[in-house]
Amino acid sequence: MTERLVVVSNRTPKPGKVAAGGLAAALDGVLKQLGGIWVGWSGDFTEQPGEPRHLDVGGNEIVHIDLNKADHAAYYAGYSNSVLWPTFHMRPELARFNTDFYEGYIRVNEQFADALLPLLKPDDLIWVHDYHLIPLGQLLRDRGVKNRIGFFLHIPFPTPEALSAIPSHRHLIGSLNAYDLVGLQAKRDVAALEDFASPVEFVRPRRSSGPLVPVTGVNASVFPIGSDPEAFARMAELPATRKAMATFNKSIADRQLILGVDRLDYTKGLPQRIEAYERLLADYPEYRRKVSFLQVAPASRDTIQQYQEITGNLDYQCGRVMGRFAEIDWQPLNYVKRAYGQSTLAGLYRTARVGLVTPLRDGMNLVAHEFVASQDPENPGVLVLSIFAGAAEIMPDALLVNPYDADETAHAIDLALKMPLDERKERWAKLRADIERHNIHAWADDFLRVLREAPRP
Ligand code: F6P
Repeated sequence: MTERLVVVSNRTPKPGKVAAGGLAAALDGVLKQLGGIWVGWSGDFTEQPGEPRHLDVGGNEIVHIDLNKADHAAYYAGYSNSVLWPTFHMRPELARFNTDFYEGYIRVNEQFADALLPLLKPDDLIWVHDYHLIPLGQLLRDRGVKNRIGFFLHIPFPTPEALSAIPSHRHLIGSLNAYDLVGLQAKRDVAALEDFASPVEFVRPRRSSGPLVPVTGVNASVFPIGSDPEAFARMAELPATRKAMATFNKSIADRQLILGVDRLDYTKGLPQRIEAYERLLADYPEYRRKVSFLQVAPASRDTIQQYQEITGNLDYQCGRVMGRFAEIDWQPLNYVKRAYGQSTLAGLYRTARVGLVTPLRDGMNLVAHEFVASQDPENPGVLVLSIFAGAAEIMPDALLVNPYDADETAHAIDLALKMPLDERKERWAKLRADIERHNIHAWADDFLRVLREAPRP
């Protein structure tokens, strides 16, 4: 029998749509290369869960599951994005710990497990992705699945203190034991998981939620995810991209472009970034009229209150910078709440003199990879990168900054704008080698190789 890869994730590709987000775009290529199926939510709702639907999307077999609307709300906007997302990004004060959320999350995970069961063949390698589906491995084991199952967490792993703020955390993290391999983005994440698994964590319980589940047996390792650098380099050079960028350059009167590209999310450090730019214009007046800052920030998870609030705050902040520095013939900042396709992004990355990737916490941050991949080797831009992005562990030649420190970030932008061509080329060549070493194919190959070889109980 031949091995087949079974990818499971919340989002899946849809016919005629650009893959949304890093995970979807990345896995699309991996599955094409290895062959198999990809199972996930269809994006549609149903009252009664029916049979999964099989589709061909760009040559990959996708299996779509419809979800009940109320369950989906508790699972996605609720537990995944109002409990796990803020807490895993070390913002437990933004979380809403509602018991219904966890119940809905488990129900949807059970639905995924039930849908998967009849699809599985004995030699399938199952690869579950991200925080939406942490308990899925355990639920599959409960249903008798003996296959090798791997799990990859695309977001950071929190410190034991932050994790302990989640009432259901023992049950949740204990379920990681069901996987043959757990992949994390960065060394700091494996260290945090090991810290949690140390006996100190068990001193507590006042009122235990579920049985105490030791997590010391989790087989966890670092697998930093990557991009497809060649594809970005190619897209950046397409005639259509060049043409669009020539028009764009005219619109900013060939000023030096400072660029940020992020989902509108409180983890991305957008207010701090705008503040740093404001500091640059205030403290380094020589850049007024000489630079243009473009922040691309497509809306995200906008049914959740915390996400709605970011928009209001950013509108206010950008308005303040405009009011303070804009002139009739110079707009210091442009803030675009729209999503763009990969070729346009590749063109913008290549046009930018400075790429600002300054999240407060981030699993990896593929924008950092894509920015480097898209540069012109003869005239590369400079990456200013947060020390709190997983990418910082593998890209030491970026200008690394503490995003909370507006002065430091403004200073890094100044250094980037003044950096001589020789130094830009030298740093870029090293970064290009880093992202090539950690490209998306290497990531998938490494993870699957280690999963195949993982010791079994
Ligand atoms: O970074 C985690 C992640 O789930 C990515 O995998 C994905 O690209 C992004 O967030 C988008 O999130 P959502 O699916 O909630 O729009």
